[in-house]
Amino acid sequence: MKVLVVGSGGREHALVWKLAQSDQLTELHAAPGSAAIGELAECHPESKAGDLDAIVELAQKKLIDLVVVGPEDPLAAGLADRLREVGIATFGPSAAAAQLEGSKAFAKNFMNRHGIPTAAYAVFEQSAAAHTYIDAVESRCPCVVKADGLAAGKGVAMCEDAAAAHAAIDEMMSARRFGDAGDRIVIEQWLRGEEASYYAITDGEQIVTLAAAQDHKRALDGDEGENTGGMGAYSPAPVVTDEVENKILERVVHPTIHGMAKEGHRYQGVLFVGLMIDAEGDPYVIEFNVRFGDPETQPLLVRMQGDLLSLLDTAARGTLDPATEIGWGEAAVCVVLASGGYPRDYKIGRRISGLDAIGEDDSLVVFHAGTRRCASGEGFESAGGRVLGITARGRGVAEARDRAYAAIDKISFDEMQFRRDIASRAIER
Ligand code: AMP
Ligand code: GLY
Repeated sequence: MKVLVVGSGGREHALVWKLAQSDQLTELHAAPGSAAIGELAECHPESKAGDLDAIVELAQKKLIDLVVVGPEDPLAAGLADRLREVGIATFGPSAAAAQLEGSKAFAKNFMNRHGIPTAAYAVFEQSAAAHTYIDAVESRCPCVVKADGLAAGKGVAMCEDAAAAHAAIDEMMSARRFGDAGDRIVIEQWLRGEEASYYAITDGEQIVTLAAAQDHKRALDGDEGENTGGMGAYSPAPVVTDEVENKILERVVHPTIHGMAKEGHRYQGVLFVGLMIDAEGDPYVIEFNVRFGDPETQPLLVRMQGDLLSLLDTAARGTLDPATEIGWGEAAVCVVLASGGYPRDYKIGRRISGLDAIGEDDSLVVFHAGTRRCASGEGFESAGGRVLGITARGRGVAEARDRAYAAIDKISFDEMQFRRDIASRAIER
């Protein structure tokens, strides 16, 4: 089978790494890919993920059997629809189904219609009405103010009090910090509990569950500092016990996939649900994502033993076997090495040393999120905010974590920044 992976980050490197292990694979391509992905797949740097025409043309020219779309933006823009129109099987939802991530108002109204547990909310298209809502007699705060559209994970303001909520409304609707994405906002109740994410693969009807994972969104140790794309992740997430998992499946995953089908938006791809698990072990949806998480995919795929290619391919073709057995290794942990200053300003072009010192270690994989070849052609240098995802498996989360940090001791680049407490909450439990 000839496969094309769309994207260039750490998540796509992990997808390519796992797909490359499949017996069914004959050719592996990536668009645009990266230097590190180029060691496993043929890259097409001129075909950017956001250039739908270029991706469709490439897939046709290379006679691709299956396209796997990494990021959300091309899905929201209709890449999967375009590819299916020309008869190419695609792993990833249609633009209509991708609204689950692309519009928070769509997702909240959908959950409301289908009785899926989530925070109480209200949607606003006028800032005056939003300000009035915050000042209602009954206290609305603490609350969370969210831009409706895609904002690279940054369009969420956690507001302890009314002043913060008013400022967030102004920033989104008047100053338009997130552009069109903030023309509509959602204000919701601030949920308490422990976060986890859950992954399921579906062809729109049948479902194969993957596993739970947990990421670390804040930049600094102890969950301090700004929100980032994710500074590390681990799987499994101990907060998701068997009992909690059953509730997630029954109350969230099944009603979501079946509800989308009933509304005429058959959902094909991976459903990634961000959840808050409260003190009683009841799950509430924080958000839906219509693609794999980054960096959660890195530990998830390092743990996964089964064949990823047949899973994604059958989901894309509508022939997913719900009895598919995916073996899971006990645990895996990914620690992200970022450029100093990330998620704000940072410098790139820093030479990375120590990658060779890691050598052959079956329990460790270095995924590249933002690197490029050095000008000399030898070795790698940084080329993004998140640079590497050092991912290790182990007999438990603690062993996996220790292996990841032992490898990090050997790697360095100027102003390298990372968290030292990835997975510590899971280990303390
Ligand atoms: P989102 O982009 O919607 O996932 O939000 C980003 C992060 O904000 C989440 O991972 C949570 O940490 C936090 N968050 C969002 N909505 C809520 C909520 N209603 N209650 C508590 N935390 C939230
Ligand atoms: N790590 C969070 C995400 O991929 O949305």
